[in-house]
Amino acid sequence: METRKLGRTGIEVSRLGLGLAEVYRQELRGKETTGAAQVLNFALDVGINFLDTAACYASTEELIGSAVSHRRDEFFLASKCGHAVDTEGEPWTSKVIAESVDRSLRRLKTDYLDLLQLHSCDLETLKRGESIEAVIRAREEGKTRFIGYSGDNEAALWAVRSGLFDTLQTSFNLVDQNARKELLGIAHAKEMGIIIKRPLGNGVWGKASSPYTYADDYFRRAQILKESGPIYGAPEDPILLAMGFLFAHDEVSTAIVGTHNPNHLRANVEMLENELPILPGVVKELHRRFDAVGEGWPGIG
Ligand SMILES: NC(=O)c1ccc[n+]([C@@H]2O[C@H](COP(=O)([O-])OP(=O)(O)OC[C@H]3O[C@@H](n4cnc5c(N)ncnc54)[C@H](OP(=O)(O)O)[C@@H]3O)[C@@H](O)[C@H]2O)c1
Repeated sequence: METRKLGRTGIEVSRLGLGLAEVYRQELRGKETTGAAQVLNFALDVGINFLDTAACYASTEELIGSAVSHRRDEFFLASKCGHAVDTEGEPWTSKVIAESVDRSLRRLKTDYLDLLQLHSCDLETLKRGESIEAVIRAREEGKTRFIGYSGDNEAALWAVRSGLFDTLQTSFNLVDQNARKELLGIAHAKEMGIIIKRPLGNGVWGKASSPYTYADDYFRRAQILKESGPIYGAPEDPILLAMGFLFAHDEVSTAIVGTHNPNHLRANVEMLENELPILPGVVKELHRRFDAVGEGWPGIG
């Protein structure tokens, strides 16, 4: 598996990472998630070494703890904090964040996180400073090696410009290209690790209807971007198209594709290793279509 430096952290991470939000969504829908342990182990077996979860992704931290904590030295472990889950108190306060980090460590069965990210707080919260001080304290206490901001638009720009965070996690994909305008370039220039969330645009490109409510806006955007007809030279497989688009952007350190399906993970690894890149003209056309209609389309968290 190809690796990239996660910016100034200096850590080599696999270009394809694994995001646990899809397993969380399955759990919310009351679906069986027994395949998830298999997905995690298969990911490590093929050299994926970046796992991304969050304190508020239902039982996914426990899942990592039970399925792969015995392989802790094989992966870079990223989690998120800030929301008041399973706790009393106001979100984004030092109390809630400190409790959340300790709970994450217990659930993940580890002594340390590699990356602790603020989980999409808004600009005002960032400016207030308490949440940032809390993650810095967690780093000083050895509970995390690095700190990051996960989010989009003006808050992400502020976080990147502040110089306080080691990494940025942001939405970027063929139907959500707002980060291309400014954010990715500034983060790259500041040598931050760049982690892409929602890298497949939740798979909406090839769908006849939105796969789930969370993806409704993306689905609508895809319909508009497809109105001008087929893209010459584009791969027929919409997942390959989405991956090809994403990995054509060199600033990207890792893309944390979400899946609960071992066969999908296998297919994604296969595409990355054997079927990319896609034609530059296809990427250019996707840029052109987005720029033509997406002026007012913000990054979607
Ligand atoms: N605010 C935040 O910090 C935030 C917000 C959103 C996401 N994230 C992070 O980003 C990660 C990825 O985002 P995401 O899961 O929302 O979006 P995504 O990775 O763009 O798309 C996930 C969707 O793609 C499908 N998929 C994956 N591989 C496939 C394949 N080969 N064939 C067909 N379908 C495939 C998955 O379904 P199957 O399960 O059926 O494969 C799932 O429905 C999350 O897991 C999370 O870690 C963070």
